[in-house]
Amino acid sequence: MVKKLYIKTYGCQMNVYDSARMADTLSPLGYVETSHLDEADMVVINTCHIREKASEKVFSELGRLRKMKSSRQEQENRNMTIAVAGCVAQAEGEEIARRAPWVDLIVGPQAYHTLPQLVSKLDPTSRQAVINTDFPVENKFDFLPEEHTPRGPAAFLSVQEGCDKFCTFCVVPYTRGAEFSRPVKGIMDEAKRLIENGSVELNLLGQNVNAWHGEAEDGQTWSFGRLLYALAELDGLKRIRYTTSHPLDMHDDLFDAHAEIPQLMPYLHLPVQSGSDRILAAMNRRHDRDTYFRIIDRLRDARPNMALSGDFIVGFPGETDRDFADTLNLIDRVNYASAYSFKYSPRPGTPAASHEDQIDEAVKSERLAGLQQLLASQQQMFNHSKLGEVMDILIERPASREGQKAGRSPWMQAVHFSENSGEIGDIIPVKIVAAYQNSLAGERVIT
Ligand code: 5AD
Ligand code: SF4
Repeated sequence: MVKKLYIKTYGCQMNVYDSARMADTLSPLGYVETSHLDEADMVVINTCHIREKASEKVFSELGRLRKMKSSRQEQENRNMTIAVAGCVAQAEGEEIARRAPWVDLIVGPQAYHTLPQLVSKLDPTSRQAVINTDFPVENKFDFLPEEHTPRGPAAFLSVQEGCDKFCTFCVVPYTRGAEFSRPVKGIMDEAKRLIENGSVELNLLGQNVNAWHGEAEDGQTWSFGRLLYALAELDGLKRIRYTTSHPLDMHDDLFDAHAEIPQLMPYLHLPVQSGSDRILAAMNRRHDRDTYFRIIDRLRDARPNMALSGDFIVGFPGETDRDFADTLNLIDRVNYASAYSFKYSPRPGTPAASHEDQIDEAVKSERLAGLQQLLASQQQMFNHSKLGEVMDILIERPASREGQKAGRSPWMQAVHFSENSGEIGDIIPVKIVAAYQNSLAGERVIT
């Protein structure tokens, strides 16, 4: 019998990937994805624990689902299974089970390959959730079924998970576990299948993706750079990206890869978090600002049209005006094409959360506003610099505006153009005719 599955994803791209893989594991049990919550037999919320705001959403979402579940039960005598997955499930599984007894299933990010067994244990009359938040010794990738549905022109491919860096603000090493690199064969096989199913761009994912070092079939350990060279050999793969990287793992052959592999897009998300050496040390980032500058210079030497993106945290414990000024100065020097920035959010169990010199919310807000203003003006400038340029755009989807399609530039910019410019999955030459804060508009060039 067909059952409808609704998955709501919060957080990072890894969660987007995991949600798709969860749907793959449930598909042999008869679950088909729907985009309509009201017809769902099972709802999975795939959660994010990175900042307090993200975690808080879980309980309000669960409150709404509780009402839906009980009115469904009363009016239609039909059950709705509620599952919580992702990093909040991992970090607060027991708490969810206690505070939200209407939740039926709780599964962590390294255990979702066991979903079929967990589902078989479900008992609608029980008020006890079925839980699996283990970090199992087996590798979930060895147990996940093949992709059930095509992933579209630009697909994510998880190659690395977890983190051993232990930045003092970050929950990832606790929620995702220790660093793990998928072996080469599984990655190459998945890449080939994705390409066969119509993907032309692969975005390799990992919490520390450039720390990837995987076992190859010849028994050797490959570097991340070597993996990129191997992927670039695959017929039909036109674009390669990877995210998220750590400055410490930018090794020599990765710069070579940027210089030599045309499919590797000239855009890199390379978070630095702060521009102050004092704060970088307190964050346990294990590099200083000069090292970061040298990396950026090398990237731009390797690929002169390289654009950068980053993550920033303001108001880390002990951050002074001077430290913050150093961050603004770093941003000035690097000149980002885009960036994400956050107020420091103390996370339970992380070392920085128990520092005594926490920063006032008002100061954090003020600093964030200043930093975002600078980043927004850099983004605006970057977008404007593309006016008049002809660039390759991968058509990804119909645009929200009628009569238009949308795609991405090599630099991840969203670009809109007339819908008859080409088909989804095509890469077409587009001349940029308008530049906005978050997007570009263009016209297909006939070659
Ligand atoms: N507070 C604020 N931002 C955080 N990030 C990670 N942990 C925290 C935290 N405790 C940000 C970092 C990271 C991005 C994914 O989220 O900038 O790179
Ligand atoms: Fe978190 Fe630092 Fe690991 Fe990134 S490198 S996931 S910020 S601990």
